[in-house]
Amino acid sequence: MIEFNPELEHDPELDRPAAKNIKDYAANLKRMYQALYRVWAELVSKKGKSFVLLMLIPLFVICLIGVLTPIAIKTIFDGVLESINKADGFNSQITKGVLFLAGLFVLSEIAQLLKRSVREYIFDENSRSLRQTTNTKFFEKSLGEHITQNRLLNESSVKKGYERVEAFEKVMLFHGIENTTNVCLAYLAIWYLGWFLGLIATAMLLIFLAWSLFLNNKVMEVCLPLDKYWNFLSRYQSERWRFVQRVKSNAKEEEEIRNINAFYEKTIEKDLKFWLWVIRQISWRAIANHLILVGVVIFGVLQVIAKSITLGALYPIINYTQKITDGLYQLSDLEHEINYWSPSIITFQRALDKPKKLPSPENPVVLDKNSPCLVEFLDVGYQFPPRTELGDISLPALHRITFSIKPGKKVALIGQSGAGKTTLMQLLLRFMDPTSGKILIDGFDLRDVKTESWMKLVGYIPQEAQVFSGTFRSNLLYGLSDEEAAKISDSELWEVVRNLQLDLGTRLTNGLDTELGHYGIDLSGGQKQRLMIGAAAFKKPRFMVIDEATSSLDATTEKLVQSGLETVLGPSVGALIVTHRLPTVRKLCDEFVMIDTVNGHGGEVIAIGESFEELADKTDRFRKLAADQDIVL
Ligand SMILES: Nc1ncnc2c1ncn2[C@@H]1O[C@H](COP(=O)(O)OP(=O)(O)OP(=O)(O)O)[C@@H](O)[C@H]1O
Ligand SMILES: [Mg+2]
Repeated sequence: MIEFNPELEHDPELDRPAAKNIKDYAANLKRMYQALYRVWAELVSKKGKSFVLLMLIPLFVICLIGVLTPIAIKTIFDGVLESINKADGFNSQITKGVLFLAGLFVLSEIAQLLKRSVREYIFDENSRSLRQTTNTKFFEKSLGEHITQNRLLNESSVKKGYERVEAFEKVMLFHGIENTTNVCLAYLAIWYLGWFLGLIATAMLLIFLAWSLFLNNKVMEVCLPLDKYWNFLSRYQSERWRFVQRVKSNAKEEEEIRNINAFYEKTIEKDLKFWLWVIRQISWRAIANHLILVGVVIFGVLQVIAKSITLGALYPIINYTQKITDGLYQLSDLEHEINYWSPSIITFQRALDKPKKLPSPENPVVLDKNSPCLVEFLDVGYQFPPRTELGDISLPALHRITFSIKPGKKVALIGQSGAGKTTLMQLLLRFMDPTSGKILIDGFDLRDVKTESWMKLVGYIPQEAQVFSGTFRSNLLYGLSDEEAAKISDSELWEVVRNLQLDLGTRLTNGLDTELGHYGIDLSGGQKQRLMIGAAAFKKPRFMVIDEATSSLDATTEKLVQSGLETVLGPSVGALIVTHRLPTVRKLCDEFVMIDTVNGHGGEVIAIGESFEELADKTDRFRKLAADQDIVL
């Protein structure tokens, strides 16, 4: 049985230690503040900033009205008291108060309308700018940054950070700014009412802040490990849902239900204890609030009795005190939420901060669209950057690789799993640069070549097929510009589809416009790979890089695809082809390069030959590999 091990969960939000002392806490706050400041400085556009400043005007007016309303009510109350004392009916003070109040309400509605409208604009503008900046920064990184195990740039962490920034902007716009302004104005107004009340409000503010910071920190301390429990449980459960085939084909459903229930019990037990504790703390805080309020009322009443203030003046005193406590209460919740989100926001920012592309000269070499594409690997070595947070030491993946691919020649790269075949292809596609040696294209160092011009010449079929949700047609023509795609006729498309055994007959209900993926039909692993070959073929590449394109094909289809590949490749197209299945490349390729790991050095070239026989003469490792696959030499 799989152990319940929440400690395995890694997430920047949960991996931080909760602050142990004030210094830690201050450091946390500082980090949070810096991250949020960067959101404002870098992710909010100039237009968004001016909108925010514009919104501050009606917002300030609304908060000010919130402070003036109790004064209007005080005027009315005092007027009513005077009227009772003098029995003079609806006196002028009441009229003044009522008119003042009505005026404030009208103004408030106008300001609200303005504020809400501007806020909508801000919201649109902010999400536009966030989306645009994120996408620009995401796509400008080199592919090497995207695929490294240092997974800052992976989809889930970018998505989470993105959502957290969006949520942060939303709470600030909807609650943060308004609550802060409300608290500040009520605080100033209380000072205006009297220095003693001002002092009480200050004490209240300090106590509340200290308590909230303590409570939030405590919550974080317990919450972080607890969230690991929830994450573990939900990951466990969704994996069982996703791999239901494995569960059911092993008759494990009852055991899995028992496991999930048991994990849930362990989690909920801790969770319940924690929330009961929080509820008690919150109740204490609320009781403290009420005590303060009662104290303020008693003080006010004494003042009224001493005739220092009027009875009506009690209302603003109580109202402002309540405004401060309510506002602080909400701000404290916000602080907790934002504090919780900030590590994801920081991780997101670190991902977007990754260096742009790989270094390239000021005037890079632009490869011609008819370049012969002579590819030379010269003493190429590569070592992946270590994954520091796991204390990973990285061993070289490739060591002193030297061989060349003449124009139009097809070279097979053969080697055991983990030998570095995919890595070598990634270097050729400039996902990353070699850590030693160099790769030349038509004599130019790949580092000096404009990457886009090389990508235009290359057709790449990755080890894992990447089919987009969209039509059959759009997937096939993905590598082309709109103008180029428009020139491809349906009959040309069908020809390639048939060549690659992709005609799915009646399943293509809408012909080439049948939807695939999320909104449409599912393709098998082999079909997806063939679709990738087809898509690469339409690019009419000068050089193909194929990473095991035929690994999930049955023997018959493999033969067909092989001939499809032959047509796709044509005599003038060079290629580097990786495969575990030797028969696929035997006829197709002009040269065979075998790489293998030697003494933990990473993949090295151990033999090169023009035929399997030659390779077998040169190395026993190939002889063994061929024998394992029943290849007759
Ligand atoms: N992003 C990465 N970070 C660190 N090490 C990696 C990374 N990708 C691959 N490696 C390591 O580099 C070595 C070569 O991997 P590579 O994927 O190139 O092998 P391969 O020959 O393509 O294997 P297979 O035939 O199984 O696809 C392996 O030891 C692998 O664990
Ligand atoms: Mg591979």
